[in-house]
Amino acid sequence: MSKIVKNIADLVGHTPLFEFVKYEENNNINAHILGKLEYFNPSGSVKDRAALNMILAAERDGLLHPGDTIVENTSGNTGIGLAAFAASRGYKLTVFLEPGQSAERQKMLRAYGVDLKSMMDVPGVPEALGNGTFTTQFYQDAIQSYCDAQDTPHYFINQLANLANPGVHYDTTGPEIWEDTDGKVDILVATSGTAGTITGLAKYFREKNPDIEIVAVQADPTSRPGGSENPQTIDGIAPFGDPGFPDGAKAPFIVGFNYNECIDVKGEDAYAVGRELAQSDGVFLGQSAAAAVYAATIVAKRPENAGKNIVAMLADNGMKYLSTNMYPLDKAVL
Ligand SMILES: Cc1ncc(COP(=O)(O)O)c(C=O)c1O
Repeated sequence: MSKIVKNIADLVGHTPLFEFVKYEENNNINAHILGKLEYFNPSGSVKDRAALNMILAAERDGLLHPGDTIVENTSGNTGIGLAAFAASRGYKLTVFLEPGQSAERQKMLRAYGVDLKSMMDVPGVPEALGNGTFTTQFYQDAIQSYCDAQDTPHYFINQLANLANPGVHYDTTGPEIWEDTDGKVDILVATSGTAGTITGLAKYFREKNPDIEIVAVQADPTSRPGGSENPQTIDGIAPFGDPGFPDGAKAPFIVGFNYNECIDVKGEDAYAVGRELAQSDGVFLGQSAAAAVYAATIVAKRPENAGKNIVAMLADNGMKYLSTNMYPLDKAVL
């Protein structure tokens, strides 16, 4: 059979599970930190899986037809995945971006031909943000109203509530990891944006091993984009379990989701691990991925976890963060 790939969608998934053996050795870690390298997906992140699956589900359900416009709100990676598959399947794409997205993400979206807008362009959003009535649900409803008001068919893919988002991790990512570890997954460590990854995987792994520990990772309050002066933020993920963070501001999949532990990671700690891994094991990670390895390291160093398999979901690589100060050029020679 020919091995020539003719459809970008055929390159999604089957990403490598990589053990950071040098890093483990250098840090006296006796557990196995296994990184699921999602940057091997064709547009470079874990969100390729959900983006493709949501498009396929909409096609199957008769909600999407060639020439239609797909609309999505995204912090970047979902938009980039949607952009690749929309382009290859004949859809237009409009993306509403939250503030603070790196220049690389915006440039990539433009390269794929995306109509790029700010979340402030969604009718009603600036007012709701101004008077304190903005919620996740409000935002979803406002985008749906925007779509309904257009003259041509606009389909709001809505990753925050679309079951094809967590579903793809239950159907593909979980089984891939299970197979690659011969069924030995003791602890899962994952960050969360929409929580599609962590909730889909938790469902799959708990069915296989009810004793698995699920460790969520979030940016420390001092390291969240937007709110702080800290130049070392962790982009692309949302707060997961803050007691002070109201349910209405959380991704719907997080609400009511049970996890064993949530670890706060400071930007400076994630960046330091990212720089270390690039030089110890030659793996160049993005901000949330480096935060996940930092959290996995805390868990791995607990004596009771010696010898265990700790799977860390690593959403993307460092290429989209070169304009941030995660990987500075301290000594330009040209
Ligand atoms: C960089 C990065 N890390 C992690 C995630 C988390 O993925 P999920 O939406 O499945 O929670 C996302 C996307 O939301 C992301 O862009």
